[in-house]
Amino acid sequence: MAITEITLQELDAAKFIEQKVREIASIVGNGKAINALSGGVDSSTVTMLGHKALGDRLLTYFIDNGIMREGEPQRVVALFERLGVPVRLLDAQQEFFAALKGITDPEEKREAITQTFYRTVFGRLVRESGAKFLLHGTILTDVEETVGGIKRQHNILAQMGINTEKEFGYTVIEPLVQLRKPAVRKVAQALGLPEEVYNRPPFPGPALAARVIGEVTPERVEIVRKATAIVEQELSYTGAFQALAILHEDRVTGMRDGKRDYGLQIEVRCWDSKDARTAAPTRLPYDILENIAERITSEVPGVVSVTYNVTRKPPSTIEAV
Ligand code: XMP
Repeated sequence: MAITEITLQELDAAKFIEQKVREIASIVGNGKAINALSGGVDSSTVTMLGHKALGDRLLTYFIDNGIMREGEPQRVVALFERLGVPVRLLDAQQEFFAALKGITDPEEKREAITQTFYRTVFGRLVRESGAKFLLHGTILTDVEETVGGIKRQHNILAQMGINTEKEFGYTVIEPLVQLRKPAVRKVAQALGLPEEVYNRPPFPGPALAARVIGEVTPERVEIVRKATAIVEQELSYTGAFQALAILHEDRVTGMRDGKRDYGLQIEVRCWDSKDARTAAPTRLPYDILENIAERITSEVPGVVSVTYNVTRKPPSTIEAV
């Protein structure tokens, strides 16, 4: 089914909110819905819409999949507590790492994460809670890229021909599917979310797994997590669309303490973009890049090489996996 876009110019945020709250309430009826909050603008917006529509009949979970950024689970739960929205923190790290074990192909990794989220974790939550609906923050760009065969976004189900009711036991509701990111930000702001949420740089659903080339293990995620924290600290001043660190699979010869160190490579990317469909690398000052390289090689164990991506999207994509 074709999706009609609501452009930023067309969007009347207050009216949109009113309409979606009414729609969610009418679809769910007297039942319960669940949703997963990652703290990104899409899932935060859906959480607020669902909370307005359903109150405590919306069960919001932060799924700790072990591949989020430093301190993220606690930060997001605390932020929504302050907004009066209860969030349950669910530790599913073991399940995700077990599913990712031994997988190196990018699409297979995404598929493992999708299955673990939607079949294993949500399937179980639905059975345990009696919720029949999953509120989901899919946006138009996610659908286009997946259907266009560019990259399988982890959260695309119906558009891939998956019957969630039959396969997983719940119906998916996607209130944001007609919007692109700038329109979602406008809705988020109108919902009273703080600026750190409505202006938050995007972060991929498969989280740091989208930035680990090769096998995703707890140890390799920890390396990219540390590098990501440094890159975000050093580049937040730019206001760039996204800044990230990628862990490469290949090792390269380096030297440490006068000895050969066959070590790890981190690639830094920093993007200027409006809507993630196309993007250009930010022209960063050289001393900033040098400082990042210095910090990563001294603070992240095993890294001997740091590079900066200068390729546009396309042909690159924003994430590496
Ligand atoms: P790519 O890497 O495809 O990313 O150029 C485009 C934008 O989408 C984010 N991204 C994702 N978002 N699920 C999401 O919700 C995903 O599976 C996913 N993969 C990439 C990425 O961070 C960028 O902003």
